[in-house]
This record gives sequence, C-alpha cells and structure tokens, in this order.
Amino acid sequence: MAKRPYNKLFFILPYFLGIVLLLYVWFFKQVFHGSEVENRLPKEIENDQLLILVWTWPFGETFPLDTCESHYKISGCSFTTNRSLCDRVDAVVFHHRDVMYSRDIPRGPRPHYQRWVWFNIEPPIVTVNLNIFDNLINMTMTYKEDSDIFLPYGYMKPLKEPQSFKIPTKSKLVAWVVSKWYQGTRRASYYEELKKHIDIDVYGHNHTELSWDEFDRTLIQYKFYLAFENCEHKDYITEKLWSNAFITGLVPVVLGPPRENYERFIPPTSFIHVDDFSSPKELAQYLLDLDKDNAKYEQYFSWRSKFVTVRELGWDNFYCKACRELQQSKGYKAIASVGKWFRT
Ligand SMILES: *[C@@H]1O[C@H](CO)[C@@H](O)[C@H](O)[C@H]1NC(C)=O
Ligand SMILES: *[C@@H]1O[C@H](CO)[C@@H](O)[C@H](O)[C@H]1NC(C)=O
Ligand SMILES: *[C@@H]1O[C@H](CO)[C@@H](O)[C@H](O)[C@H]1NC(C)=O
Repeated sequence: MAKRPYNKLFFILPYFLGIVLLLYVWFFKQVFHGSEVENRLPKEIENDQLLILVWTWPFGETFPLDTCESHYKISGCSFTTNRSLCDRVDAVVFHHRDVMYSRDIPRGPRPHYQRWVWFNIEPPIVTVNLNIFDNLINMTMTYKEDSDIFLPYGYMKPLKEPQSFKIPTKSKLVAWVVSKWYQGTRRASYYEELKKHIDIDVYGHNHTELSWDEFDRTLIQYKFYLAFENCEHKDYITEKLWSNAFITGLVPVVLGPPRENYERFIPPTSFIHVDDFSSPKELAQYLLDLDKDNAKYEQYFSWRSKFVTVRELGWDNFYCKACRELQQSKGYKAIASVGKWFRT
C-alpha cells in the first residue's frame, strides 16, 4: 500500500516533464523571436520610419526623394538610391522597364523583413522577361486595379457642387495623335478601315507635326479624339483618354479593354467605344450623324457637371504611395509569378 503514491508519481512524471519541455521550448522561441522584433523596433515599429531603396531611376528620370511629407502628407518615408544599403533597407522598388533586359537585380538572400515592390506602368506588349521576378515580389504597383498600389493614369473626382461646363467651339471632326505605330495591332487596322469612311487628322511621328506648345490649342478644335490604346489590356486606359480627350475637352472614341472595364472608372455616357459598332464604317456613320446633331453631341459632356478629371503626375508621388502602402500593410505576402498575375 505504501508504494502506491510512488506509482502515481511515476505515472504522472512523463506528462509533467513533457509540459516543462514544451514551456522551455516556447520560452526560448519567445526570447529568440523577441530579439528579432527588438532589432526592428527602432525602425519599423516605434516610429514607422521606412527606408526604401529606389533600385533605378524610372526611365532614368530623377526626382526629389524628400517630398512625401511636404507634398503628399505621408510621413515616415526615407528613400535612398545607394545600393550599398541593399541589405539594410525595409523595401526595394524595382521599375521593371529599367531592368527587364539587363536583369540587373540583387541575387542571393535578403533580410527576412525586406519587401520587394514591382513597379510597372507599361502594357504587356512592351513588357518582357517578367520571370526574372518569380518568387521575389511582395507587392505590385501598376495601372491594374488589383495592384497593391493602384496607379491609374487618371481618375474622375466627384465635384462637391454641380458645375457648368462650356463646350469649346469646335470646327474640326476627328483627331488622333500617335507616336508609335505598332503595325499589326488592332488599332492600326481599325484606323486603316475607319479612315476610308471619315476624315481623320493624324498628328505625331510620320504625320502632321504637333509641338507641346500647340498641343491643346490644336486638339481642342476637334469634336472627337481617337483614344486608341496600343494594347488591349485590363485597366490599361492611358493619358490618351484622360489628357488628350477629357482634359483637353474632346469626346473620346476608345479602343482598348471592353466597355465594362471603362465603365468601372468613367460614366457610360462620357465616351464612345468602337465595340459599340459592328464595323468601323458604322462607327464613322455614327460620328458623322453626331456632327450634325448638336444636342446629342452635347450629351457626351453632361458628366462634366458632376465630375472633374484628375491626373496625378510625378515619380515622387508614386514612390510615396508605395511607402504609404508598405506602412499600412505589414502582413506577409509573396507573389509567385508577377508575370502570371500581370498578363491576365
Ligand atoms: C552608400 O552607402 C555606403 C554604406 O553606408 C557608404 O559607405 C557610401 O559612401 C554611400 N555612397 C554614397 C554615394 O552615398
Ligand atoms: C516576399 O516575397 C517572397 C517571395 O515572393 C518571399 O520569399 C518573402 O518571404 C516575402 N517577404 C515578406 C516580408 O513578405
Ligand atoms: C513611320 O515611319 C517608319 C520609319 O520610317 C515606318 O517604318 C512606318 O511604317 C511609318 N508608319 C506609318 C504609319 O507610316
């Protein structure tokens, strides 16, 4: 009988030791993890200060690195272009266009907390070697709406008060400014067919020259602007629409992603989509009819009483946005293939 308590202890002891061992492991994990967090404390957690490496000047264009707070009210951002700091920075922003041929990106391990941002504002047609970023990227910054940092070429801002808009006097019909031709694209063949049925004044490379000084003054005389994208890609709606048509004061005739895609960003009655017509000839006829029907033409300007078009410019603006997003989303995120995501 006297032995029984020992027996009991013998029975419980392994469980007890197991629990002690678990506590021990847990404790060390905490200490280890804790010291890692501590290392990061001064930089990331305490004052939210992020150091971001601008891997290349985008398209070789320099911009001020200290404007986030003063211009965009985003605090806690420091930028550097000094690649020697690569193993110390919180994030690196890669502008795809500048590295896609050279494949000039860091190799080898990086600090576990360091996040890489993939920055691209060019459409798939001119974006190659996306696979160099396989299994390396944490955030995307592009014109695609589902990017972590969404950079549209423009957007419409609702007005607080309805405003009247005076439609500029028009004396000409259809204008198009084109710098690169991209033979074989849908827009090239659509234009070739369209011009058989309606006069189109084409400006730019190989065509009537148009200087920046003359740009607005020349275009504003036209009723319609061919906002034809060089690539039909989701959300790829460029300055051709925002600046050349809307801001200058012309009605855009768009060729690009489907109408539904445009309608996510702009009122349905603000533009004419080539897909609304069964052929370029039919579109030409519609434009010629609109030319004679002023009341109907003016309806394409009715949205201007409620919205104003905004184009945000400046590389510093984009990089500051990246910083703000890096501050706000601290969670783990890994993108296996930016190419797969981008091209769809
Ligand atoms: C870049 O950073 C390294 C390491 O801090 C420093 O030694 C070097 O002087 C810096 N280079 C420039 C151009 O600032
Ligand atoms: C960043 O993404 C890569 C893979 O794309 C991943 O290996 C890494 O752990 C991620 N880092 C963070 C801090 O999310
Ligand atoms: C523009 O000029 C280039 C080079 O001279 C030529 O290859 C191209 O076909 C021209 N495009 C048009 C639309 O005339």
